[in-house]
Amino acid sequence: MDVAKRKALIVGGTGLIGNQLLQLLLQSEAYESVIVLIRKPLAINHPKLIQKVVDFDDLDNGEQMFGVDDVFCCLGTTIKKAGSKEAFLKVDFDYPLQVAQLAKENGATQFLIVTAMGADRHSRVFYSRVKGEIEEALKRVKFPSLHIFHPSLLLGKRNEFRFGEKVAEIISPILSPLLRGKLSKYKPIQAKDVAQAMVRIATDNRKGEFVYEWKQMMSDGSVK
Ligand SMILES: NC(=O)c1ccc[n+]([C@@H]2O[C@H](COP(=O)([O-])OP(=O)(O)OC[C@H]3O[C@@H](n4cnc5c(N)ncnc54)[C@H](OP(=O)(O)O)[C@@H]3O)[C@@H](O)[C@H]2O)c1
Repeated sequence: MDVAKRKALIVGGTGLIGNQLLQLLLQSEAYESVIVLIRKPLAINHPKLIQKVVDFDDLDNGEQMFGVDDVFCCLGTTIKKAGSKEAFLKVDFDYPLQVAQLAKENGATQFLIVTAMGADRHSRVFYSRVKGEIEEALKRVKFPSLHIFHPSLLLGKRNEFRFGEKVAEIISPILSPLLRGKLSKYKPIQAKDVAQAMVRIATDNRKGEFVYEWKQMMSDGSVK
């Protein structure tokens, strides 16, 4: 396919990673249009941007929304913010899976998702287990290309206070240089670096299932 004519869809485009990703995709010459599914309209205009305000509990199977090449999923919440495990599951499992299925039916060939370091469907930790379960469910959708991103703690400016991220921001300059070799996957990472890796990897357009930890996200393109 002509790389100059790719169409992207983003879910979670208002979040810490998603917002950076949206800006990068709009700037990228590889994409002719960027559809963003959102709950409330964004205060930005761009000739390539198509905003679709949707109810994630009632998504239409429309080519207008899902007729794209690449889907970028940065959806996520916390149990505290969602209010219950059930509500968390909706955002971190049900919505990503439904978006994936609708996009696949409409011809999408690449799915890129941010889950988390430690994602494991056998984990005793609910958060890590859900992240692992969505990864397994997405593998069953069988996209030609499935790219899974495993950040440790995210760094970047957000409007709400999150204790873990604040601590990471403070200790990161001391801790990060000590986390070498196999421990590098624990390094906190800037949301912008995750977003940049997603765009770089999407435009590489390689086939298969891939998982990216800190080292691969921060590499200059030689993805293993
Ligand atoms: N925070 C960390 O340190 C960390 C570490 C590792 C992995 N992760 C994972 O990385 C991913 C991205 O994280 P992030 O910090 O960039 O996310 P974020 O800033 O919390 O943004 C979450 C996105 O999900 C959307 N969303 C949340 N609840 C929703 C709902 N009920 N219905 C529809 N959309 C909803 C938000 O939309 P609205 O603007 O409409 O709310 C927003 O676009 C998440 O899956 C997260 O679990 C995070």
